[in-house]
Amino acid sequence: MEMLEELLASARKAWEQAYCPYSRFPVGAALLTSDGEIFIGCNVENLSFGLTVCAERTALCSAVAAGKRQFSGMVVVTDTQEPETPCGACRQALYEFSPNLWIVTANLQGQQRVYRLCELLPAAFQAKI
Ligand code: THU
Repeated sequence: MEMLEELLASARKAWEQAYCPYSRFPVGAALLTSDGEIFIGCNVENLSFGLTVCAERTALCSAVAAGKRQFSGMVVVTDTQEPETPCGACRQALYEFSPNLWIVTANLQGQQRVYRLCELLPAAFQAKI
């Protein structure tokens, strides 16, 4: 993926901004639009736990609010032994805009895994309503 290094650096920077006093599990994300812009996100928790927003959706909402609707790649960074994949809710939220999105998961040690969103979310909800 082009711009991978820049996306990794952006996601790591976002990771540092995570607000996660309850889980102490910071996540950083960087979303690349199809026209080459990067939007970052981190998880934002709340004392009312169910209000927590994941890093991936923070980045997605920020991009959509800026008028972007097509995305080519996302990098997700965690401080875990193995890179972590986005949760099911985030997969569905991203699928809405870009089913073929490349997703690179990485940990702080530099290990990486590469997926396509449609591979991580087979049989996604896509009813015609
Ligand atoms: N989290 C994310 O930011 N992305 C995911 O895909 C899964 C989980 C956050 C939510 C919560 O703040 C913390 O990680 C622990 O679940």
